[in-house]
Amino acid sequence: MSEVTQAVPAAELFTPEFRLDPYPTYARLRENAPVCRVRTPRFETWMVTRYADARAVLSDPRLSKDIDRAGDLYLQVFGEKSVALNRNMLNADPPEHSRLRRLVSQAFTPRRIDALAPRVQQVVDDLLDPIVPAGRAELISEFALPLPMNVICELLGVPVEDREQFFSGTQVIRTQGTAGRSNEEDRAAIQEAQQNLYAYLTKLVGNKRDRPGDDLISALIAARDGGGKLSEEELVSTAFLLLFAGHQTTADFIGNAVTALLTNPDQLDLVTRNPDLLPGAIEELLRFNGSVPVASFRLATEDVEYSGVRIPKGSIVTVVLNAANHDPAHFTDPDGLHVDRTDNPHMAFGYGVHYCLGVSLARMEARTALGTLLRRLPNLALDVAPENLRWLPAASSFRGLLELPVRFGDA
Ligand code: HEM
Repeated sequence: MSEVTQAVPAAELFTPEFRLDPYPTYARLRENAPVCRVRTPRFETWMVTRYADARAVLSDPRLSKDIDRAGDLYLQVFGEKSVALNRNMLNADPPEHSRLRRLVSQAFTPRRIDALAPRVQQVVDDLLDPIVPAGRAELISEFALPLPMNVICELLGVPVEDREQFFSGTQVIRTQGTAGRSNEEDRAAIQEAQQNLYAYLTKLVGNKRDRPGDDLISALIAARDGGGKLSEEELVSTAFLLLFAGHQTTADFIGNAVTALLTNPDQLDLVTRNPDLLPGAIEELLRFNGSVPVASFRLATEDVEYSGVRIPKGSIVTVVLNAANHDPAHFTDPDGLHVDRTDNPHMAFGYGVHYCLGVSLARMEARTALGTLLRRLPNLALDVAPENLRWLPAASSFRGLLELPVRFGDA
Protein backbone atom coordinates (compact mmCIF):
# COMPACT_ATOMS: atom_id res chain seq x y z
CA MET A 1 0.00 0.00 0.00
CA SER A 2 1.20 3.54 -0.66
CA GLU A 3 1.90 5.95 2.16
CA VAL A 4 0.31 9.04 0.64
CA THR A 5 -1.54 11.28 3.06
CA GLN A 6 -2.59 14.60 1.68
CA ALA A 7 -3.59 16.85 4.56
CA VAL A 8 -5.74 19.88 3.81
CA PRO A 9 -6.26 22.42 6.62
CA ALA A 10 -9.98 23.08 7.13
CA ALA A 11 -9.32 26.85 6.96
CA GLU A 12 -8.13 26.43 3.35
CA LEU A 13 -11.13 24.34 2.42
CA PHE A 14 -14.07 25.99 4.15
CA THR A 15 -13.54 29.53 2.80
CA PRO A 16 -16.20 32.20 2.05
CA GLU A 17 -15.78 31.33 -1.67
CA PHE A 18 -16.46 27.69 -0.87
CA ARG A 19 -19.62 28.67 1.00
CA LEU A 20 -20.91 30.46 -2.10
CA ASP A 21 -19.81 27.78 -4.58
CA PRO A 22 -18.03 24.62 -3.36
CA TYR A 23 -17.81 22.97 -6.80
CA PRO A 24 -14.45 24.48 -7.98
CA THR A 25 -12.86 23.23 -4.72
CA TYR A 26 -14.45 19.81 -5.18
CA ALA A 27 -12.99 19.70 -8.72
CA ARG A 28 -9.50 20.49 -7.40
CA LEU A 29 -9.78 17.80 -4.71
CA ARG A 30 -11.08 15.17 -7.17
CA GLU A 31 -8.17 15.93 -9.47
CA ASN A 32 -5.29 16.44 -7.01
CA ALA A 33 -6.25 14.98 -3.64
CA PRO A 34 -9.17 12.57 -4.19
CA VAL A 35 -8.71 11.04 -0.74
CA CYS A 36 -7.43 13.71 1.65
CA ARG A 37 -7.14 14.23 5.38
CA VAL A 38 -8.98 17.29 6.70
CA ARG A 39 -8.68 18.56 10.25
CA THR A 40 -11.88 20.36 11.26
CA PRO A 41 -12.25 22.14 14.63
CA ARG A 42 -14.17 19.11 15.93
CA PHE A 43 -12.46 16.11 14.38
CA GLU A 44 -10.13 14.84 11.71
CA THR A 45 -11.61 13.05 8.72
CA TRP A 46 -10.64 11.59 5.36
CA MET A 47 -12.66 13.13 2.54
CA VAL A 48 -13.42 11.06 -0.56
CA THR A 49 -14.51 13.02 -3.64
CA ARG A 50 -14.41 10.72 -6.72
CA TYR A 51 -17.59 8.94 -7.85
CA ALA A 52 -16.01 5.47 -8.07
CA ASP A 53 -14.37 5.80 -4.63
CA ALA A 54 -17.60 7.17 -3.14
CA ARG A 55 -19.50 4.08 -4.28
CA ALA A 56 -16.73 1.81 -3.05
CA VAL A 57 -16.71 3.43 0.40
CA LEU A 58 -20.49 3.40 0.79
CA SER A 59 -20.66 -0.32 0.00
CA ASP A 60 -17.53 -1.37 1.95
CA PRO A 61 -18.41 -3.45 5.05
CA ARG A 62 -15.03 -2.56 6.59
CA LEU A 63 -16.41 0.95 7.13
CA SER A 64 -18.75 0.96 10.11
CA LYS A 65 -21.71 3.15 11.03
CA ASP A 66 -22.17 1.49 14.43
CA ILE A 67 -22.51 4.22 17.05
CA ASP A 68 -21.22 1.92 19.78
CA ARG A 69 -18.21 0.85 17.77
CA ALA A 70 -17.28 4.52 17.24
CA GLY A 71 -17.32 4.85 21.05
CA ASP A 72 -15.23 7.82 22.20
CA LEU A 73 -15.05 9.23 18.69
CA TYR A 74 -18.81 9.62 18.57
CA LEU A 75 -18.89 11.21 22.02
CA GLN A 76 -16.14 13.62 21.00
CA VAL A 77 -18.00 14.71 17.85
CA PHE A 78 -21.61 14.76 19.02
CA GLY A 79 -21.56 14.77 22.83
CA GLU A 80 -22.77 12.18 25.33
CA LYS A 81 -26.38 13.28 25.48
CA SER A 82 -27.05 12.66 21.78
CA VAL A 83 -26.07 8.97 21.90
CA ALA A 84 -29.47 7.60 23.01
CA LEU A 85 -31.28 9.80 20.51
CA ASN A 86 -29.10 8.59 17.66
CA ARG A 87 -29.17 4.86 18.33
CA ASN A 88 -31.18 4.19 15.14
CA MET A 89 -30.71 2.53 11.74
CA LEU A 90 -28.49 5.29 10.36
CA ASN A 91 -26.00 4.56 13.13
CA ALA A 92 -26.04 0.76 12.96
CA ASP A 93 -24.39 -1.95 10.85
CA PRO A 94 -26.01 -5.14 9.50
CA PRO A 95 -27.51 -7.31 10.91
CA GLU A 96 -28.76 -4.77 13.49
CA HIS A 97 -29.28 -2.20 10.71
CA SER A 98 -31.28 -4.71 8.64
CA ARG A 99 -33.55 -5.51 11.60
CA LEU A 100 -34.30 -1.84 12.31
CA ARG A 101 -34.74 -0.93 8.64
CA ARG A 102 -37.08 -3.89 8.00
CA LEU A 103 -39.31 -2.91 10.92
CA VAL A 104 -39.47 0.73 9.83
CA SER A 105 -40.09 -0.25 6.18
CA GLN A 106 -43.12 -2.27 7.34
CA ALA A 107 -44.71 0.95 8.60
CA PHE A 108 -43.28 3.41 6.05
CA THR A 109 -45.00 1.80 3.06
CA PRO A 110 -45.58 3.09 -0.50
CA ARG A 111 -49.31 2.98 0.31
CA ARG A 112 -48.81 5.37 3.23
CA ILE A 113 -46.80 7.75 1.00
CA ASP A 114 -49.42 7.60 -1.78
CA ALA A 115 -52.16 8.33 0.75
CA LEU A 116 -50.24 11.43 1.83
CA ALA A 117 -50.09 12.95 -1.70
CA PRO A 118 -53.38 14.94 -1.55
CA ARG A 119 -52.42 16.26 1.88
CA VAL A 120 -49.01 17.40 0.55
CA GLN A 121 -50.76 19.25 -2.30
CA GLN A 122 -53.05 20.87 0.27
CA VAL A 123 -50.12 22.01 2.44
CA VAL A 124 -48.37 23.42 -0.66
CA ASP A 125 -51.48 25.34 -1.71
CA ASP A 126 -52.16 26.63 1.81
CA LEU A 127 -48.60 27.96 2.01
CA LEU A 128 -48.82 29.58 -1.45
CA ASP A 129 -52.26 31.19 -1.00
CA PRO A 130 -50.98 34.21 0.97
CA ILE A 131 -47.79 34.41 -1.12
CA VAL A 132 -49.40 34.59 -4.58
CA PRO A 133 -51.03 38.06 -4.25
CA ALA A 134 -47.91 39.58 -2.64
CA GLY A 135 -45.68 39.39 -5.75
CA ARG A 136 -42.62 38.87 -3.50
CA ALA A 137 -41.63 36.21 -0.98
CA GLU A 138 -38.80 34.81 1.09
CA LEU A 139 -39.19 31.24 -0.04
CA ILE A 140 -37.13 29.49 2.66
CA SER A 141 -39.08 30.66 5.71
CA GLU A 142 -42.44 31.05 3.96
CA PHE A 143 -42.43 27.86 1.94
CA ALA A 144 -39.44 25.48 1.86
CA LEU A 145 -39.09 25.00 5.65
CA PRO A 146 -42.78 24.79 6.70
CA LEU A 147 -43.70 22.37 3.89
CA PRO A 148 -41.64 19.31 4.92
CA MET A 149 -42.13 20.14 8.60
CA ASN A 150 -45.89 19.92 8.19
CA VAL A 151 -45.61 16.81 6.01
CA ILE A 152 -43.37 14.96 8.47
CA CYS A 153 -45.66 15.98 11.35
CA GLU A 154 -48.69 14.67 9.39
CA LEU A 155 -46.82 11.45 8.76
CA LEU A 156 -45.69 10.94 12.36
CA GLY A 157 -49.02 12.07 13.79
CA VAL A 158 -47.79 15.22 15.62
CA PRO A 159 -50.86 17.31 16.58
CA VAL A 160 -51.09 20.71 14.86
CA GLU A 161 -50.83 22.63 18.17
CA ASP A 162 -47.42 21.03 18.97
CA ARG A 163 -45.80 21.76 15.60
CA GLU A 164 -44.39 25.19 16.45
CA GLN A 165 -42.44 23.72 19.37
CA PHE A 166 -41.19 20.98 17.08
CA PHE A 167 -40.16 23.50 14.46
CA SER A 168 -38.22 25.80 16.81
CA GLY A 169 -36.26 22.82 18.17
CA THR A 170 -35.11 21.81 14.70
CA GLN A 171 -34.27 25.43 13.81
CA VAL A 172 -31.73 25.71 16.64
CA ILE A 173 -29.92 22.79 15.07
CA ARG A 174 -30.25 24.11 11.51
CA THR A 175 -28.92 27.60 12.25
CA GLN A 176 -25.76 26.34 13.96
CA GLY A 177 -22.94 28.80 13.23
CA THR A 178 -25.22 31.53 11.89
CA ALA A 179 -27.16 32.82 14.88
CA GLY A 180 -24.32 34.81 16.46
CA ARG A 181 -23.65 32.10 19.05
CA SER A 182 -20.14 30.88 19.94
CA ASN A 183 -19.26 27.22 19.20
CA GLU A 184 -19.79 26.38 22.87
CA GLU A 185 -23.14 28.21 22.99
CA ASP A 186 -24.18 26.46 19.78
CA ARG A 187 -23.31 23.09 21.26
CA ALA A 188 -25.23 23.81 24.48
CA ALA A 189 -28.27 25.15 22.57
CA ILE A 190 -28.29 22.07 20.31
CA GLN A 191 -28.02 19.68 23.25
CA GLU A 192 -30.89 21.43 24.97
CA ALA A 193 -33.04 21.37 21.81
CA GLN A 194 -32.28 17.67 21.36
CA GLN A 195 -33.23 16.89 24.96
CA ASN A 196 -36.52 18.78 24.56
CA LEU A 197 -37.31 16.89 21.36
CA TYR A 198 -36.39 13.62 23.05
CA ALA A 199 -38.77 14.37 25.92
CA TYR A 200 -41.51 15.41 23.50
CA LEU A 201 -41.13 12.31 21.30
CA THR A 202 -41.11 10.03 24.37
CA LYS A 203 -44.43 11.56 25.45
CA LEU A 204 -45.83 11.28 21.91
CA VAL A 205 -44.92 7.58 21.67
CA GLY A 206 -46.66 7.03 25.03
CA ASN A 207 -49.78 8.83 23.79
CA LYS A 208 -49.88 6.78 20.58
CA ARG A 209 -49.48 3.59 22.57
CA ASP A 210 -52.58 4.51 24.60
CA ARG A 211 -54.57 5.87 21.63
CA PRO A 212 -53.22 4.56 18.30
CA GLY A 213 -54.06 6.64 15.21
CA ASP A 214 -53.61 6.23 11.47
CA ASP A 215 -50.03 7.50 11.56
CA LEU A 216 -46.47 6.27 11.24
CA ILE A 217 -45.64 6.24 14.98
CA SER A 218 -48.70 4.07 15.70
CA ALA A 219 -47.66 1.78 12.82
CA LEU A 220 -44.09 1.61 14.17
CA ILE A 221 -45.42 0.60 17.60
CA ALA A 222 -47.41 -2.19 15.91
CA ALA A 223 -44.59 -3.38 13.57
CA ARG A 224 -43.41 -6.95 14.26
CA ASP A 225 -40.61 -8.95 12.68
CA GLY A 226 -40.29 -12.65 13.57
CA GLY A 227 -41.85 -11.83 16.95
CA GLY A 228 -39.42 -8.94 17.54
CA LYS A 229 -40.47 -5.31 17.73
CA LEU A 230 -38.95 -1.88 18.27
CA SER A 231 -38.02 -1.11 21.89
CA GLU A 232 -39.18 2.14 23.52
CA GLU A 233 -35.74 3.72 22.96
CA GLU A 234 -35.70 2.55 19.31
CA LEU A 235 -39.15 4.01 18.71
CA VAL A 236 -38.11 7.41 20.02
CA SER A 237 -34.77 7.48 18.18
CA THR A 238 -36.46 6.31 14.94
CA ALA A 239 -39.04 9.11 15.21
CA PHE A 240 -36.14 11.53 15.78
CA LEU A 241 -34.30 10.16 12.72
CA LEU A 242 -37.37 10.49 10.49
CA LEU A 243 -37.92 14.04 11.69
CA PHE A 244 -34.35 15.08 10.97
CA ALA A 245 -33.80 13.01 7.86
CA GLY A 246 -37.11 14.17 6.39
CA HIS A 247 -37.17 17.85 7.23
CA GLN A 248 -34.08 19.92 6.54
CA THR A 249 -32.96 17.66 3.68
CA THR A 250 -36.15 18.34 1.76
CA ALA A 251 -36.43 22.03 2.73
CA ASP A 252 -32.88 22.79 1.60
CA PHE A 253 -33.36 20.79 -1.58
CA ILE A 254 -36.45 22.80 -2.57
CA GLY A 255 -34.48 26.04 -2.05
CA ASN A 256 -31.48 24.73 -4.02
CA ALA A 257 -33.71 23.48 -6.84
CA VAL A 258 -35.55 26.80 -7.23
CA THR A 259 -32.24 28.70 -7.17
CA ALA A 260 -30.68 26.40 -9.77
CA LEU A 261 -33.65 26.92 -12.11
CA LEU A 262 -33.72 30.70 -11.60
CA THR A 263 -30.01 30.99 -12.37
CA ASN A 264 -30.39 28.77 -15.47
CA PRO A 265 -33.33 30.48 -17.24
CA ASP A 266 -33.14 28.27 -20.36
CA GLN A 267 -33.61 25.20 -18.15
CA LEU A 268 -36.43 26.89 -16.21
CA ASP A 269 -38.11 27.66 -19.51
CA LEU A 270 -37.67 24.08 -20.76
CA VAL A 271 -39.26 22.48 -17.70
CA THR A 272 -42.02 25.10 -17.45
CA ARG A 273 -43.02 24.42 -21.06
CA ASN A 274 -42.71 20.64 -20.63
CA PRO A 275 -44.08 19.62 -17.21
CA ASP A 276 -43.51 15.97 -18.20
CA LEU A 277 -39.81 16.66 -17.71
CA LEU A 278 -40.33 17.44 -14.02
CA PRO A 279 -39.52 14.00 -12.51
CA GLY A 280 -36.25 13.80 -14.50
CA ALA A 281 -35.53 17.47 -13.75
CA ILE A 282 -35.79 16.75 -10.03
CA GLU A 283 -33.15 14.01 -10.34
CA GLU A 284 -30.90 16.44 -12.21
CA LEU A 285 -31.47 19.16 -9.60
CA LEU A 286 -30.55 16.65 -6.88
CA ARG A 287 -27.35 15.83 -8.76
CA PHE A 288 -26.59 19.47 -9.54
CA ASN A 289 -26.78 20.82 -5.97
CA GLY A 290 -27.98 18.24 -3.46
CA SER A 291 -28.92 19.27 0.07
CA VAL A 292 -26.85 16.52 1.75
CA PRO A 293 -23.34 17.37 0.50
CA VAL A 294 -21.60 14.74 2.58
CA ALA A 295 -22.74 11.33 3.81
CA SER A 296 -22.63 10.83 7.57
CA PHE A 297 -19.25 9.66 8.81
CA ARG A 298 -18.01 6.07 8.65
CA LEU A 299 -15.33 4.52 10.85
CA ALA A 300 -12.54 2.40 9.28
CA THR A 301 -12.45 -0.88 11.23
CA GLU A 302 -9.21 -1.85 9.43
CA ASP A 303 -6.77 -0.19 7.04
CA VAL A 304 -8.47 0.56 3.70
CA GLU A 305 -7.23 2.04 0.42
CA TYR A 306 -8.97 4.10 -2.26
CA SER A 307 -7.34 5.79 -5.28
CA GLY A 308 -4.01 4.50 -3.97
CA VAL A 309 -4.30 6.29 -0.61
CA ARG A 310 -4.16 4.29 2.60
CA ILE A 311 -6.59 5.24 5.34
CA PRO A 312 -5.50 3.78 8.69
CA LYS A 313 -7.78 1.74 10.94
CA GLY A 314 -9.71 3.95 13.40
CA SER A 315 -10.04 6.91 10.98
CA ILE A 316 -13.27 8.75 10.19
CA VAL A 317 -14.16 8.65 6.47
CA THR A 318 -16.48 11.21 4.85
CA VAL A 319 -17.89 10.74 1.34
CA VAL A 320 -18.52 14.04 -0.42
CA LEU A 321 -21.68 13.16 -2.37
CA ASN A 322 -21.90 16.54 -4.10
CA ALA A 323 -18.31 16.17 -5.36
CA ALA A 324 -18.99 12.64 -6.65
CA ASN A 325 -22.11 13.94 -8.42
CA HIS A 326 -19.95 16.38 -10.43
CA ASP A 327 -17.27 13.86 -11.38
CA PRO A 328 -16.49 14.28 -15.10
CA ALA A 329 -15.39 10.63 -15.18
CA HIS A 330 -19.05 9.77 -14.65
CA PHE A 331 -21.25 12.62 -15.92
CA THR A 332 -21.07 14.55 -19.18
CA ASP A 333 -20.82 18.32 -18.59
CA PRO A 334 -21.11 17.73 -14.81
CA ASP A 335 -21.18 21.42 -13.86
CA GLY A 336 -24.01 22.16 -16.32
CA LEU A 337 -27.70 21.82 -15.41
CA HIS A 338 -29.58 19.71 -17.98
CA VAL A 339 -33.15 19.08 -16.86
CA ASP A 340 -33.59 16.60 -19.72
CA ARG A 341 -30.55 14.50 -18.70
CA THR A 342 -31.57 10.85 -18.93
CA ASP A 343 -28.76 8.63 -17.64
CA ASN A 344 -28.43 10.04 -14.12
CA PRO A 345 -27.26 7.59 -11.42
CA HIS A 346 -26.52 10.39 -8.93
CA MET A 347 -25.76 9.74 -5.27
CA ALA A 348 -27.76 12.57 -3.70
CA PHE A 349 -29.69 9.95 -1.71
CA GLY A 350 -26.53 8.01 -0.79
CA TYR A 351 -25.67 4.47 -1.83
CA GLY A 352 -25.49 1.01 -0.28
CA VAL A 353 -27.41 -0.27 2.74
CA HIS A 354 -28.04 3.22 4.16
CA TYR A 355 -29.56 4.48 0.87
CA CYS A 356 -32.24 7.03 1.79
CA LEU A 357 -35.38 5.36 3.11
CA GLY A 358 -37.48 8.41 2.31
CA VAL A 359 -36.79 8.75 -1.45
CA SER A 360 -40.40 8.26 -2.54
CA LEU A 361 -41.65 10.86 -0.07
CA ALA A 362 -38.84 13.29 -0.95
CA ARG A 363 -39.55 12.95 -4.68
CA MET A 364 -43.30 13.35 -4.21
CA GLU A 365 -42.84 16.48 -2.07
CA ALA A 366 -40.37 17.97 -4.57
CA ARG A 367 -42.65 17.24 -7.54
CA THR A 368 -45.65 18.78 -5.81
CA ALA A 369 -43.71 21.80 -4.53
CA LEU A 370 -41.87 22.64 -7.75
CA GLY A 371 -44.77 21.80 -10.08
CA THR A 372 -47.13 24.05 -8.11
CA LEU A 373 -44.59 26.87 -7.70
CA LEU A 374 -43.95 27.00 -11.45
CA ARG A 375 -47.69 27.02 -12.15
CA ARG A 376 -48.78 29.51 -9.51
CA LEU A 377 -45.84 31.96 -9.49
CA PRO A 378 -45.44 33.13 -13.11
CA ASN A 379 -42.25 34.92 -14.16
CA LEU A 380 -40.52 33.75 -11.01
CA ALA A 381 -37.12 35.48 -10.54
CA LEU A 382 -34.48 35.97 -7.85
CA ASP A 383 -34.91 39.20 -5.90
CA VAL A 384 -31.21 39.29 -5.00
CA ALA A 385 -27.99 39.00 -7.02
CA PRO A 386 -26.89 35.32 -7.02
CA GLU A 387 -23.54 36.27 -5.43
CA ASN A 388 -25.42 37.84 -2.50
CA LEU A 389 -27.40 34.70 -1.66
CA ARG A 390 -26.66 33.62 1.94
CA TRP A 391 -25.77 29.93 2.12
CA LEU A 392 -25.42 27.81 5.26
CA PRO A 393 -21.87 27.84 6.71
CA ALA A 394 -19.24 26.15 4.56
CA ALA A 395 -18.62 23.29 7.02
CA SER A 396 -22.35 22.59 7.56
CA SER A 397 -23.59 19.03 6.99
CA PHE A 398 -26.30 20.53 4.78
CA ARG A 399 -26.15 22.56 1.58
CA GLY A 400 -28.92 25.12 1.64
CA LEU A 401 -29.87 28.78 1.77
CA LEU A 402 -30.64 30.88 4.83
CA GLU A 403 -32.93 33.05 2.69
CA LEU A 404 -34.28 32.96 -0.85
CA PRO A 405 -35.91 36.29 -1.81
CA VAL A 406 -37.95 36.02 -5.03
CA ARG A 407 -40.39 38.15 -7.04
CA PHE A 408 -43.03 37.05 -9.54
CA GLY A 409 -46.24 38.12 -11.21
CA ASP A 410 -47.30 39.64 -14.51
CA ALA A 411 -44.38 40.47 -16.76
C1 HEM B 1 -34.28 15.71 -0.85
C2 HEM B 1 -34.46 15.09 0.29
C3 HEM B 1 -33.54 14.06 0.89
C4 HEM B 1 -32.20 13.83 0.66
C5 HEM B 1 -31.27 14.60 -0.29
C6 HEM B 1 -31.82 12.69 1.48
C7 HEM B 1 -30.53 12.15 1.51
C8 HEM B 1 -30.17 11.05 2.26
C9 HEM B 1 -28.85 10.47 2.26
C10 HEM B 1 -27.66 10.98 1.47
C11 HEM B 1 -28.87 9.40 3.10
C12 HEM B 1 -27.71 8.44 3.39
C13 HEM B 1 -26.84 8.96 4.49
C14 HEM B 1 -25.59 8.13 4.74
O1 HEM B 1 -25.37 7.09 4.10
O2 HEM B 1 -24.79 8.58 5.58
C15 HEM B 1 -30.21 9.30 3.65
C16 HEM B 1 -30.62 8.34 4.57
C17 HEM B 1 -31.87 8.34 5.13
N1 HEM B 1 -32.95 9.13 4.79
FE1 HEM B 1 -32.98 10.61 3.41
N2 HEM B 1 -32.90 12.26 2.20
C18 HEM B 1 -33.98 13.05 1.86
C19 HEM B 1 -35.26 12.95 2.35
C20 HEM B 1 -35.69 12.03 3.27
C21 HEM B 1 -37.05 11.91 3.77
C22 HEM B 1 -38.23 12.78 3.33
C23 HEM B 1 -37.04 10.89 4.70
C24 HEM B 1 -38.16 10.33 5.52
C25 HEM B 1 -39.06 10.96 6.13
C26 HEM B 1 -35.69 10.37 4.75
C27 HEM B 1 -35.28 9.32 5.56
C28 HEM B 1 -34.02 8.77 5.57
C29 HEM B 1 -33.62 7.70 6.47
C30 HEM B 1 -34.50 7.01 7.51
C31 HEM B 1 -32.28 7.42 6.19
C32 HEM B 1 -31.39 6.37 6.86
C33 HEM B 1 -31.44 5.07 6.07
C34 HEM B 1 -30.56 3.99 6.65
O3 HEM B 1 -29.68 4.26 7.49
O4 HEM B 1 -30.75 2.82 6.24
N3 HEM B 1 -34.91 11.08 3.87
N4 HEM B 1 -30.98 10.31 3.10
